[in-house]
Amino acid sequence: MNEAENEAENEAELARHIEILEQRWAEGLAHSGHDLVWLSAGDTSNHFQDDHGPPFKPHPYFTQWVDPQFAHPGAELLLRPGEKPILFTLTPEDYWHATPPVPEYLSAHIDIRTFADRESLITACSQSVSTRHKAARIAADAGDSIDGNAFPGEPNPPTLLHYMDFHRAIKTEFELQLMRDASRVGVSGHVAARDCFYEGGSEFDIHMAYLAASRQMEWELPYENIIAINENAATLHYRPQQRTRSESSRSFLIDAGGNRSGYASDITRSYAAAGDDHAEFRFLIDAMLEHQNRILAQISPGVSYASLHAAMHNSLAQVLVDAQICRGEADKVFESGLTEAFCPHGLGHLLGIQVHDVGGHIADENGTLAPPPANYPSLRFTRTIETDQVFTIEPGLYFIESLLAPHRNSQKTGGLVDWERAAHLSRYGGIRIEDNVRVLPEGIENLTQDAWRQVEPGGA
Ligand code: GLY
Ligand code: MN
Ligand code: MN
Repeated sequence: MNEAENEAENEAELARHIEILEQRWAEGLAHSGHDLVWLSAGDTSNHFQDDHGPPFKPHPYFTQWVDPQFAHPGAELLLRPGEKPILFTLTPEDYWHATPPVPEYLSAHIDIRTFADRESLITACSQSVSTRHKAARIAADAGDSIDGNAFPGEPNPPTLLHYMDFHRAIKTEFELQLMRDASRVGVSGHVAARDCFYEGGSEFDIHMAYLAASRQMEWELPYENIIAINENAATLHYRPQQRTRSESSRSFLIDAGGNRSGYASDITRSYAAAGDDHAEFRFLIDAMLEHQNRILAQISPGVSYASLHAAMHNSLAQVLVDAQICRGEADKVFESGLTEAFCPHGLGHLLGIQVHDVGGHIADENGTLAPPPANYPSLRFTRTIETDQVFTIEPGLYFIESLLAPHRNSQKTGGLVDWERAAHLSRYGGIRIEDNVRVLPEGIENLTQDAWRQVEPGGA
């Protein structure tokens, strides 16, 4: 496909995406009994007693319509079924900040109205709808700020949110395209990070290599990079990043993502340092790759994700026995619950505009709760798997002292572990391998592995 054909296809996918969103919101509003909804872009805020704050991040409901780079704090999107959406946005006279204008291509789908200040924007918003209409407004500040009060309507109605959150798990082709891009962004960083590790870089050096290669500013990352050498890999959300490299680097875990137009990838890889000394850890990583493959092979529409999570623990028990970390039969290890100490987090979560995308715990569009099983409280995704959902599959195996300690003297589980071997391997911290997958009617599209093959032919 040449560039012009590519652009035409992107334009067609955007049109289809907007059409699907219009239809979903119309159904959602009918479901909740509202005539219209305001989607707020959100606002900036400053740190306490400070004149600057965190970077502006538009609300996800807004981001699904407008690329965040063109979202202005204070903008509002008005949706009325059967009518063209209206974007009320700002282009203030401002020599302090640069405000990128909303691009022309969006005006084919959205009526764009620009205002010089917040006051005239709010006046125009309130004049554009009748008070007879039953309105809803979705915003962090809905109903409790000065701006919120300027938008009569029910703030964040749960019935509407449940409906929209449930359906947001199903990605449009336009969204999938952005997520494929986000995967390539992430993988470009991962390749450079891996090379930096093998060249002797510190955690901090690796982080900087990741940013440069993925061409992301720190604030653009979908989440803060987890870059952990040796025992640091046993801290699930490790962040400090050592500036100097320790003499003896044995292992490296990196959990880092890419951002494309507000959509995320969420990728983890684990590596053993070079040399025969670390062969056993390399074998363990290979065993974890096979473990992940066993789970990936079970993904299919209609399967419950919670049952996959349980299957992951079952398979992890086998990995632990094969690696001689645990003793006896794998089934016994699984039944004892010991694997929960080696992998305390969930198998994965929905992925999209948010890294842990909304709607993972609702069973249907009415918001019926699907809480995680009592023995797996950290599981973020409990729904039935459906075609075009995108989620992560991120099995892990860690040596976390605070979780293993209670088992050491346990009558039930103490004898199931080879504690010497566990102590020896704990110098490597842990392993996580995380891919992002889209569900197909049969099998999956592995966004991460596909992106890896594109960025680094022959790699994964
Ligand atoms: N990067 C956070 C997670 O994997 O869920
Ligand atoms: Mn994840
Ligand atoms: Mn992750």
